[in-house]
Amino acid sequence: MMPFLTDQWYNASSGYRAAKTVRKALEVAHQQVAALINAKPEEIVFTGCGTESNNALLTFLASQAEAGQKIVTSEIEHSAILRHAEYLSAHYDLIIEKVGVGGDGRLSLDCFTNVIANGDAAMASVMWANNETGVIQPIAEACQIAHEAGVAFHSDAIQAVGKIHVDVRDVPVDYLSISGHKFHAPKGVGAMYIREGLKFDPMLRGGGQEGGRRSGTENVAGIVALGKAAEIMKQRLDDDQHDGIAALRDHMEQRLLSEIENVQINGSLIHRTANTSHISFGDCEAAGLLILLDEYGVQCSAGSACMTGKQQPSHVQTAMGISASQAKSSLRISLSIFTTREDVNMAVDALKKAVTKLRSVQGGPGVGPVQVFSRD
Ligand SMILES: Cc1ncc(COP(=O)(O)O)c(C=O)c1O
Repeated sequence: MMPFLTDQWYNASSGYRAAKTVRKALEVAHQQVAALINAKPEEIVFTGCGTESNNALLTFLASQAEAGQKIVTSEIEHSAILRHAEYLSAHYDLIIEKVGVGGDGRLSLDCFTNVIANGDAAMASVMWANNETGVIQPIAEACQIAHEAGVAFHSDAIQAVGKIHVDVRDVPVDYLSISGHKFHAPKGVGAMYIREGLKFDPMLRGGGQEGGRRSGTENVAGIVALGKAAEIMKQRLDDDQHDGIAALRDHMEQRLLSEIENVQINGSLIHRTANTSHISFGDCEAAGLLILLDEYGVQCSAGSACMTGKQQPSHVQTAMGISASQAKSSLRISLSIFTTREDVNMAVDALKKAVTKLRSVQGGPGVGPVQVFSRD
């Protein structure tokens, strides 16, 4: 990134020769991101974040629908899909049909098939992997079901790209969303995949950047970094290096299960990304755990980070049939390519300490709110 934040500050759209370097860098980034998902560089459009990608793609699809048609999605989508679908449904007079998941956090394909078969679907949007549980969805099947019914298929692949093999030739989704900071690019840069030949009307109109599909002066440093991160992740995936993260996650879970009582790992243990663990600690409110863990130097979240501060259990856990009390005692622990065995062991030790402390104060099931804990 650094050259593009310092001396290579030129605007890619400028006519002077120096701007050529910047244009070339953007071209390379298109190639790198395309290579990560086996797309063509022209099928990649850079955006300001994953939310923008989701919003722009859904807005376009909704604009093609007729009043009364359905937006088919799942109950476990990120708010960047669900909130926007609500807006679109009101704006374009569409009906939202949310398909449920099983206890393992995976989309019910039977329900999905029925909803699509009922007709009137204008589009389907199903996430590739869930942000709270890491559970990988049956995207190939869902995409096929939608396509057989002639329904356009979008996937919010923000939690999947860079973490697992996402290949848009193998799984021929029509549209897909990517966000940089989920695989070590900086925050504030994302991308859309738009299958070659498919229509798309931009959400941002203006200077015609990104082939007219996303106007606005490019965040060159962010895009260059997204390209580089994509290149590194592709290499890691090709070399099975993410297996190391899964091994660390498994080590962490095994220690937690064997060293702390009343611990449960939620969601499919088979179909999930290597870096995410969704764990319930019985008789411990997650809110209290988070405060203690933060003091002990461990940062994680309860459910989804976007839900922090909200009191109700997350919609994902509710959809999975997890009880409200179990949901409130659940943490999402994420690892990264930089996480070490020492980090994991330190986190487990901190969790043991936090759970013991909380349980001793709370005195068991159903006792007391956790606000008694403060940093002092
Ligand atoms: C599945 C999913 N979709 C969308 C988003 C939103 O992405 P961004 O924060 O880049 O706007 C996130 C971010 O957490 C996510 O996990």
